[in-house]
Amino acid sequence: MQQIKLTENIYYVGVNDRRTDRFENHIELPNGVSYNSYLIVEEKVALIDPVEAGFIEEYLFKIKSVLHGRKVDYLIINHDEPDHSGSIAALLMEWPEIQVVGNAKTFAPLEAFYGPIENKKVVAEGETLSLGKHTLQFFMVPMVHWPESMVTYEQSSGIVFSNDAFGGFGALNGGIFDDQVNLAFYEDDMRRYYANIVGKVAMQALKAIEKLGSLEIKMIAPSHGLVWRSNLAWVIGKYTQWSKQESEEGVVVVYGSMHGNTGVMADIVARGAAEAGIKEVKVYDIAKTEVSFIMSDIWKYKGIIIGACAHYGSMFPDMTLLTHEINEFKPKDKVFGLFGGMSWSGGGVKTLAKYAEEGKWNLVAESVEVKGAPIREEDWDKLYNLGKAVSEAVLNV
Ligand code: FEO
Repeated sequence: MQQIKLTENIYYVGVNDRRTDRFENHIELPNGVSYNSYLIVEEKVALIDPVEAGFIEEYLFKIKSVLHGRKVDYLIINHDEPDHSGSIAALLMEWPEIQVVGNAKTFAPLEAFYGPIENKKVVAEGETLSLGKHTLQFFMVPMVHWPESMVTYEQSSGIVFSNDAFGGFGALNGGIFDDQVNLAFYEDDMRRYYANIVGKVAMQALKAIEKLGSLEIKMIAPSHGLVWRSNLAWVIGKYTQWSKQESEEGVVVVYGSMHGNTGVMADIVARGAAEAGIKEVKVYDIAKTEVSFIMSDIWKYKGIIIGACAHYGSMFPDMTLLTHEINEFKPKDKVFGLFGGMSWSGGGVKTLAKYAEEGKWNLVAESVEVKGAPIREEDWDKLYNLGKAVSEAVLNV
């Protein structure tokens, strides 16, 4: 059997998930996702980060095909979330003597999920664990993505097993390493992963990147997506840019519309944005595009213009999740504009304005609320000028 080796004695034993519709049951996975796991076979055998429970048969087959009857000595849990830890019960049944390695914050949540774990080893910041010629060293990266998150660094190979950090959506389509694929294909799904999973803790992600900067890293092996061995500067650069929330030149127009009138308004707004000189103008119907894709573009671009028609005195209901997510994730250094249709009640723009106030959005133009359809010239002009004003703020003119 063809094994996938990172280096001598270090193997990739992860799995692809193309059958789960939504990650964490809410984020669409059109390209699937991988749950990466790694096996170090030495005097002692260490398994780093298991996989989601539903893939246990394929996973055990891969591990056993490397081990040829040897047992796993250490199971390293960098992160408790069930997309990684889900198969722990099955692994403990397979190798009951396995020693589960985590930090001081690992085991309370883990045992809350899976029951008592007899054979625990608690490691501290910087502590090492020798496997023979290979030595693992542990570094805490709290909140990337949960409080107990840590990374494992293998000293002789310079591989950092980074768990969620430097991960991305997208199953691994044959290419496991970054130099075996077209990176442009993975970049969007990496940013969507970042914007919806790690972005909420961007500052901690930045601290983790700075902490890892002191290590001599030759390879980054995350728990989702590609293994990085040839484009380390590229991926670290992308994660740093996203963690610092350095926006690119562009405007995202998102609208919610029951009968299409606020959608027509969105086109007028977008026209104003484009005429002002922005080439990247993205228009989304909130009822058609799942929020994680829109959040990814909101993370990327500086200008955000949101439109919502009225709905029973409030706003188009599908818009609620997006505005909630924007305020949860606190994207910084953005410029905003608001618009929408009044219908018979009004309330769309008013509700957006409440979210804007709560999230301290930087509104750079007067909000535009239109009665009925945008069939009056003054309404066209206001909407066009809203797009133009946001665009100009993006361009800083
Ligand atoms: Fe991939 Fe936070 O788990």
